[in-house]
Amino acid sequence: MALSRKLYAGRDFRRALSIAELRAVARRRVPHFAFEYVECGAEDEVTSRWNREMFERFRFIPRALVNTTARHPRTTLFGREAGAPLVVAPTAMNGMLARRGDVALARAAAAAGIPFCLSTFSNVRLEALAAEVGGRHWMQLYLLGDRAIARDIVARADQAGYEALVLTTDANVFGFREWDRRNYLAPGRLTLRNLLDVARHPRWLYEVMMPDGFPRFENVADFLPPEARSARAGVAYLPRLLVPDLAWQDVEWLRRAWPRKLLVKGILDPADARRAAELGCDGVVLSNHGGRQLDGCVSPMEVLPAVVAAVGERCAVIVDSGFRRGADVVKAVALGASAVMVGAATLYGLAAGGEAGARHAIAILAGEIDRVLGQLGCNSLEELGPALLRTDAGDRR
Ligand SMILES: Cc1cc2nc3c(=O)[nH]c(=O)nc-3n(C[C@H](O)[C@H](O)[C@H](O)COP(=O)(O)O)c2cc1C
Repeated sequence: MALSRKLYAGRDFRRALSIAELRAVARRRVPHFAFEYVECGAEDEVTSRWNREMFERFRFIPRALVNTTARHPRTTLFGREAGAPLVVAPTAMNGMLARRGDVALARAAAAAGIPFCLSTFSNVRLEALAAEVGGRHWMQLYLLGDRAIARDIVARADQAGYEALVLTTDANVFGFREWDRRNYLAPGRLTLRNLLDVARHPRWLYEVMMPDGFPRFENVADFLPPEARSARAGVAYLPRLLVPDLAWQDVEWLRRAWPRKLLVKGILDPADARRAAELGCDGVVLSNHGGRQLDGCVSPMEVLPAVVAAVGERCAVIVDSGFRRGADVVKAVALGASAVMVGAATLYGLAAGGEAGARHAIAILAGEIDRVLGQLGCNSLEELGPALLRTDAGDRR
């Protein structure tokens, strides 16, 4: 009988050859509800699928007969060298995938020489992360209804020497992730089917949950009522803090309050990018939150050329959502992106093998970037440009 193609999904994450294979390993390692939390897009998941499809609309035209023995995937981001054009995206609840998941991810990023962005809803306090892990730290900010929380985080991140503040703009009307919700009877209360599935993951229970208990929303814990501090209870409480009163005046205020790099994440319209640049932001992150917010949304790749044309001279244009291959990253850089944020890709690594798994995920992406550069006939990211791409991508505003 002929063997069929099958992704490796065993215990040894080191055998994963690609992010897709790390995902398969992760899927086995953590309970279904935790995997679905990472995986899930909003509503019909049209945006999530579109994010991936979009990359196929850009195809490479390689240059032949170029000596690329000296090539490397390094870049400069905000005046400092990075090992690859990557940033680990801010993600909440990393502690559910691996013990002290935020620290593990930050260590993996530091080892690869790339920035790590901590979520407002992290499971470790921002000061503890900065004290424990070297490297470049960025702080993501959700502006919650009570601005005292933001004032607190901004002051603490400043004190702790964070390099950048990343204001997320696209989640104050929270996305409805139906596949995620189906795992719960009510927010924080798993269905019986899921409780049985948790029991089938004793290793996860033993290694991730038992040492420190269920993770807490440490960064904002001082502002939560005691009964909502654990992440399990907090998931029911936090969406109530996300009030849709975010406005450009908040960016003006943050520009005055925050002394270092300021980025606005969740931008998709070139006019919004222009406005952010005019208000003195140092960068924009083109993002649809990895398909977790507005369903039926454009892919950041579609609008990237127009945003680069609008603000590329004035500020960094970072892009995320759906990046799973080094080739995807190279396409974005060729279109003018300064770097790519990766969310799910590194989370699959984290879930599959903790810090070492996250390192493996970054190494896979960096290795792919390097290989694609060579195959394109480029020695560095600086040699990339739109001429190396053919596109039927549409938007040319
Ligand atoms: C599990 C998970 C949690 C996330 N939590 C946050 C968050 O707390 N703050 C934020 O700005 N973005 C958050 N995001 C969005 C990411 O920062 C990023 O925009 C997105 O993951 C990029 O798409 P990708 O996952 O396809 O790489 C989260 C994404 C995931 C997958």
